[in-house]
Parts: sequence; C-alpha cells; structure tokens
Amino acid sequence: MKILAIESSCDETAAAVVEDGRKVSSSVVNSQIAEHKIYGGVVPEIASRRHMENIVPVTQEALSQAGISLEEIDAVGVTAAPGLIGALLVGVNYAKGICMATGKPLIPVHHIRGHVAANYIASPELKPPFLCLIVSGGHSHIVEVLDYTRYRIVGYTHDDAAGEAFDKSARAMGFPYPGGIYIDQAAKRGDPGKYKLPKPRVEGSPYDFSFSGLKTAVINLLHNAQQKGEAVDRDSLAASFQQTICEILTDHLEKAAKELGYCVITAAGGVSANSGLRFCLEKMCRENGYSLHIPPLSLCGDNAAMVGAQAYFEFLAGNTAGFDLNASPSKNI
Ligand code: KG4
Ligand code: ZN
Repeated sequence: MKILAIESSCDETAAAVVEDGRKVSSSVVNSQIAEHKIYGGVVPEIASRRHMENIVPVTQEALSQAGISLEEIDAVGVTAAPGLIGALLVGVNYAKGICMATGKPLIPVHHIRGHVAANYIASPELKPPFLCLIVSGGHSHIVEVLDYTRYRIVGYTHDDAAGEAFDKSARAMGFPYPGGIYIDQAAKRGDPGKYKLPKPRVEGSPYDFSFSGLKTAVINLLHNAQQKGEAVDRDSLAASFQQTICEILTDHLEKAAKELGYCVITAAGGVSANSGLRFCLEKMCRENGYSLHIPPLSLCGDNAAMVGAQAYFEFLAGNTAGFDLNASPSKNI
C-alpha cells in the first residue's frame, strides 16, 4: 500500500511516499528554521503562510522523487494534531482536497505517533509492544507502545518539554534558535563535570519529568556570573546541562523499563538526535541487555516519512476520516 504523507504541524513543510509503513520511496522536508531564527522562535503566522506557499511544490517533489502519480497513490496520510493550529490546517485542508479530487482514503495521523513510527522505518523488524522515550520540542513522554495504535503514557513532563529546556537554556547561553543542536555541538568541547546542576524530581511520580528547575538553574548561573563580572565557560555549561538532562531522561526510562518489564526500548522526536542522549541510552541498554532502536538523525526531526509510516497502521486499524476532519492543536497520543 502506497501512502502519500503530509506534515505541516510546526515549521517544516514535508511530504513523503511510504510503502506498507516501512519503505520510504521519497521524503522531502522544507525547513523554515532560517526565517524563524531571527525572531528567536517559531512565529505561527509566518509558519502558516510558508506552508501555504510550499505545500504544493514539496508534494510534487515527493511524488516525482518516488516516480509515482497521484492516481497511483492508495491513500493520503496527514498530521492532524497536535501542533500550531494555523500550520496544521494547511496540511489537513490540502490532504482533503487531494482525497476529494482522487477519491482516495484520508488518514489523520497524530504527530507524536508519527515520531514513534519513525522507528518502524529505521528498524523493519520492530513490532510493539515496546517502551518509547518521546522527546521533542513540545513533548517529553515515556510511553508503552502496546500496539501500533494503542499507547499508555507512563511518564510525562509537568512543565517544559526536553526540547524546550534545551532551546531555552541555549538561548540563555547565547545560541541561536533552535538551540538543541548548538548545545550538542558545544558539549563536545566542554567538561560535563564543571558545573553542578540540579536534577529535579516529581514527588511520588518516579517516571515524570520537571525541567523548568534545571533551565532556571542555567539562567541563574549565567545571571550571577554576569553580575559578578565572572566568565562562564559556555562549552562546559552546555556539556554539564546536556549530561544532566540526558541522565534524567535515561534514569527514568531505565526505571520504567525495569518495573514494567520491557526489554525493547525506542526513542523518538527531535531531541533523540542528541549525541549525549544517544550515548546514555546505548550504555543503559547495553548494561541491561535491552535492545535499543533510535531513528537515524534524518528521521528524528519533523518529516513526513514518519507520518506515512504511522498512517499505514492507522489505516489497518480502520482509522480513516471523513471530509469533516478538523485539525487540533492539542491531543493526547
Ligand atoms: O520533534 P521536533 O523536530 O519537533 C517537535 O515536534 O517539537 O523537535 C524539535 C526539538 C527542538 O527543541 C530542537 O532544539 C531539538 O528538537 N533538537 C535537539 C537536537 N536536534 C534537535 N536537541 C538536542 N540535541 C540535538 N542534537
Ligand atoms: Zn515533531
């Protein structure tokens, strides 16, 4: 089954053609990061307008790279939630138009389910159940993936998402938006033991996260140093921050895996591209004898291939939509 997938939930306009949920025939991503960078974050109005301009050429490119016409596609999958509402509406409405014109089924996809499904592309043998650490700009979850379309959230963040903590701390350190990758690069040059940062816990919820205290500690450290006229070793602060957040994420995931009895572990979302996190997860899984699946860097950030992968499994589960489909800015996985 060949699915044309469309993704427009944030600042990437993406289209892909994916076969049977596992084989990517094409994947095109048009990133708007350079434009949003000057504002220090994504400007929703600009994002929607750029999606509007880019969605047709990006889709045409995906079809052309896959060597397939719209008529040969079996269904259209589209991210319908969660995300920026104006951005989502562009993709959802465009997908509806294609389905109306061609008579193909319309499959709504949850963006975070898509991130999890990136692992089905990267690891063709991977099947649920497994435990997944989802870490993106808006989400930090530990999720039991019970089946391809059934999930149980066992841990979540009470304040900032991991990506948000990276980006806000990076901004305080003077890095451009989105700062996660700059912290990753700087951390390679720094000493992770140089600055002692807190590891906030959520009382009574061992799998949950709270990152705002860690972010505030970074901001306070920089502020205090500035007031005293002291220099901060930015590379070492980045390394200390990265090590701390990666240890928190890995420790909570390890605890959940042990207590819930999982030995197949996956990671998903933009922050799973982080080299420190990948290292920590690999070490933890090696020590426990778990098998670990993390998508390649190209599938960690937002893309439509992951949406096409998940759309296939949603279709098999009967989760198609009518033309009254609406986008939703927030929705549980
Ligand atoms: O999944 P994603 O592309 O978009 C959302 O669905 O939110 O995640 C974006 C997040 C941003 O916060 C970005 O800074 C972070 O992923 N990110 C990273 C790295 N690459 C992207 N964070 C840490 N290290 C990286 N190498
Ligand atoms: Zn995402």
